[in-house]
Amino acid sequence: MTTRTRAGYTLLLFSIIFAGSYTLLRADKKPEAGFDRAIVDNTRRLFERGRQIFRYDTFGDESFWGGMLHLHQAIAGAANGGVGPGVSPRAALSLGLKVDAQALPDAVVRAIRQGDVNLDDPAVTLRLLKARAVVGVTGIFEKDQLVSIGIQCAFCHSTVDDSVAPGVGSRLDGWANRDLNVGAIVASAPDLSPFSTLLGVSQDTVRTVLNSWGPGKFDAELILDGKAFRPDGRPAATLIPPAFGLAGVNLHTWTGWGSVTHWNAFVSNLEMHGKGTFFDPRLDDAAKFPIAAANGFGHVTNSPDLITAKLPALHYYQLSIPAPRPPGSSFDHDAAERGDELFEGKARCATCHVEPIFTEPGWNMHTPAEVGVDDFQAMRSPDERYRTSPLAGLWSHQKGGFFHDGRFATLRDVVDHYDALFSLGLTEQEKNDLVEYLKSI
Ligand code: HEC
Ligand code: HEC
Repeated sequence: MTTRTRAGYTLLLFSIIFAGSYTLLRADKKPEAGFDRAIVDNTRRLFERGRQIFRYDTFGDESFWGGMLHLHQAIAGAANGGVGPGVSPRAALSLGLKVDAQALPDAVVRAIRQGDVNLDDPAVTLRLLKARAVVGVTGIFEKDQLVSIGIQCAFCHSTVDDSVAPGVGSRLDGWANRDLNVGAIVASAPDLSPFSTLLGVSQDTVRTVLNSWGPGKFDAELILDGKAFRPDGRPAATLIPPAFGLAGVNLHTWTGWGSVTHWNAFVSNLEMHGKGTFFDPRLDDAAKFPIAAANGFGHVTNSPDLITAKLPALHYYQLSIPAPRPPGSSFDHDAAERGDELFEGKARCATCHVEPIFTEPGWNMHTPAEVGVDDFQAMRSPDERYRTSPLAGLWSHQKGGFFHDGRFATLRDVVDHYDALFSLGLTEQEKNDLVEYLKSI
């Protein structure tokens, strides 16, 4: 065989192999058929339905927020058929409520940009509600009259990118709204008797408790145990956590109450006061959860059930939300790389915060002593522990501090805490590097 012929054969052989693997690759790209198709269709359906529910579904909770607390009347104000001065857009924004610019006509967005919208008129707030532009809040209208109001998951777990004005922009689902003053908003309701009856205290006391929370916080356990303040006198509320980057994470909430879908059912029934079904016999423990046990909160049924059929899609959407990547300019890349090594090495962070989920694959819980914090909040939960926080996207929720109650104002304070607790002997530069790494994940 001449060299030329041999080269020719070799070329032919390669062509056959190439064509073969190309065909294989193409076979992969064929549209799915049969049950594969059913899976892909289901993915799309669950995602889209779940997003709709997360953003807009009240689960019938307007019968509580509007029907019982009459919150809509305080928002509308006396001039618009409600009570009191009403809530102007400026007041709403200062309470941390966000406006979804995508829901507004272009002309309105332009007017907001140019400062031509009257931010001091509660009637403008009503127009925003009518356009479904107030993130996480649904106004229910009869003609132009606001007759009730409901809330959604997005109320606490979405914010906006401020692309139009502070508090006005595109939605950022899953990002913790650390500006939102839930307590002050609820406290503005004309009638707090459902809470005062449940907790056995006056409406004034309920208002004092709600106003003690401050921005970015909420107390999900108050209606279970009636504990409004910590032994040291500070409010018992915890930070609103991010609801992104949760796929692959076992237990959820600061104290690991359960899976994402357990908590979704818990919150929509018990906290938002939607109408569904909820089962958690751990709430029958009258010593730990006196109020929940006395009121049967672990055995909720409603007919019709407006929640249960929505749990699969809601769960799916939650798990679809990735932790947001930090802007490249927001941290020192070299320092972050050194910090990454420390995180897994000398600083021993990765023994609990296992990359890339940044929590333990498996039972992700620790006693208060193991992380060097008091047990107040842990003792308000079934397992009496703290859940290892999944850290991805940490940069997006620096407002309000860190750990369940925001006790550490900065990431540097967190690192100092661990340095002392575990006697890590980190140098000044190592602490810095670790902080830069935390800002980069
Ligand atoms: C009033 C504010 C508020 C609303 C409304 C709200 N949440 Fe939350 N969410 C919180 C707070 C606060 C926590 C932490 C509770 C705790 O640890 O005790 C939390 C925790 C969570 C977690 C756990 C996150 C983690 O770190 O693992 C998920 C998931 C979640 N919420 C989803 C939802 C969904 C879905 C809805 C709507 C059905 C919803 N939330 C409605 C405030 C809210
Ligand atoms: C023994 C397990 C464990 C180790 C080791 C550990 N952590 Fe944590 N981490 C936790 C737990 C549990 C929490 C939740 C504490 C709370 O909410 O009060 C937490 C919370 C955090 C938070 C707050 C997250 C938030 O959303 O507020 C940061 C930041 C953090 N850890 C960083 C680190 C760093 C950096 C290291 C290494 C120096 C480290 N952790 C080592 C278990 C651990």
